[in-house]
Amino acid sequence: KQIGVLMGGLSGEREVSLRTGAAVLKALQQKGYRCTAIDAGRDLAGQLRDSGIEVAFIALHGRYGEDGTVQGLLELMGIPYTGSGVLASSLAMDKIVTKKLLIHHDLPTPGFETYRRGEDLERLVARCRHYPLVVKPAREGSTLGISIVGDGDALRQGIVEALRFDDQLLIEEYIAGRELTVAVLDGEALPIIEIEVEGGFYDFGAKYGSGKTRYLLPAPLEPALYQRMQEVAVAACAALGCCGAARVDFRAKEREFYCLEVNTIPGMTETSLLPKAAQAAGMDFAELTIRILEGAAL
Ligand code: DAL
Ligand code: MG
Repeated sequence: KQIGVLMGGLSGEREVSLRTGAAVLKALQQKGYRCTAIDAGRDLAGQLRDSGIEVAFIALHGRYGEDGTVQGLLELMGIPYTGSGVLASSLAMDKIVTKKLLIHHDLPTPGFETYRRGEDLERLVARCRHYPLVVKPAREGSTLGISIVGDGDALRQGIVEALRFDDQLLIEEYIAGRELTVAVLDGEALPIIEIEVEGGFYDFGAKYGSGKTRYLLPAPLEPALYQRMQEVAVAACAALGCCGAARVDFRAKEREFYCLEVNTIPGMTETSLLPKAAQAAGMDFAELTIRILEGAAL
């Protein structure tokens, strides 16, 4: 079968997606699959029609790729694709909607406020009494547009910065503690990774640069906590209806941990976390890629 690896795209995570896509394409080609790279821009529908691909491996991150839009187009065209469907993709893309669903399912997530472009900023600032807070665009990835703020002035600045990326913002309680992530593959949790960053903030540079980031794998958590975190990760994916691979990000403080978000198309670059977790479970990069491909369904 001819496989199209959809990459690049229109989001702020375009560069990350090109790296994920290149790694996926290389792995599939090395295993003898017939595949072609497709840059998923505005002309995607025409490209899909002309390329004659029979399956789509979606290696897109962020909006117009991870958010259900491309999935919807593929459904319409009758082309099977990897990962989550339309609804789960669009739910998970939105961190605010995700948190509401987590709360509905009694899954732990940090407290939050929301802000929409055009709303009275001073009313938001008045509501925010406990700092530090994290300001996030509701629908972005790779830490783009995110800031940690310690007072009202920094909050105002953080809002202006985040509004460059989205009209809807999440203002979340900052959990000063440890950063952890749980990859979930077809409903089963992979080994947990703890991320230790010099400077403490796992931002774009720490994620993709040759930074001083340390990965502890499996994360040194006591067994009961480790198991509970894996269960919450699986439950979070189930709450959103995710399929295939996903990655659930957490922060932990002492014996408490909090789910931040679910990524329905986790990065698969050289420094990304999902391939590391898969490796720890005995699955190399090519095996992981093929496993995701085999899950492609309509
Ligand atoms: N959004 C990036 C690609 C990730 O979650 O890995
Ligand atoms: Mg994300």
